[in-house]
Amino acid sequence: MSGLPPRTVADSRTTVVRLMIPTDANFTGNVFGGQILAELDRVAYVVAGRHCHQNCVTASIDRVDFLAPVHVGDLVEWLAELTYVGRTSMEVWVQVNAEPLQGGSRRKVGEAFLTMVALDAGGRPAPVPALNLVSGEERRRFAEGQARAETRRKVRTAHR
Ligand SMILES: CC(C)(COP(=O)(O)OP(=O)(O)OC[C@H]1O[C@@H](n2cnc3c(N)ncnc32)[C@H](O)[C@@H]1OP(=O)(O)O)[C@@H](O)C(=O)NCCC(=O)NCCS
Repeated sequence: MSGLPPRTVADSRTTVVRLMIPTDANFTGNVFGGQILAELDRVAYVVAGRHCHQNCVTASIDRVDFLAPVHVGDLVEWLAELTYVGRTSMEVWVQVNAEPLQGGSRRKVGEAFLTMVALDAGGRPAPVPALNLVSGEERRRFAEGQARAETRRKVRTAHR
């Protein structure tokens, strides 16, 4: 058990917004997928840290589909929130949207679930606060996250 009281999804919800500039581009002129992934990882770290107030590591990133290209000059936002917490792990859902700064429609360009694990001072997995679910939607997402965590555990066990 963590010594910290339960926290809500809203307590750690985080949005990062960045303007894509030429140094974010690959050789074709579109934004390099690695830039999107790096920010995805950073924002998940912030959400997890806001929830547990401890150091965390990324244990896994589930499948990421890049749904549409991102262009230099696009304003990209990473919307991130907790969906599930276990004993020491936290699942963070991140949706990535992009829109041209000069005007145009906002489009979803990616989405991912990351599992972050809290660590104690010795670098061992440490208990995290419970998630205080305040809506039916949060309870539904929590149940889905729990099922994904169980699937990941089974896959890891099978591969060892
Ligand atoms: C993540 C890590 C701390 C887990 O350590 P471990 O000894 O396997 O710990 P445990 O088996 O006790 O698992 C701890 C929790 O992590 C979860 N977990 C472990 N490996 C996982 C994985 N690959 N994916 C998702 N969850 C994972 C477990 O389900 C458990 O969750 P729970 O406590 O909520 O039930 C360890 O594998 C590690 O340090 N990995 C490197 C992380 C890192 O450096 N990331 C940055 C890469 S640059």
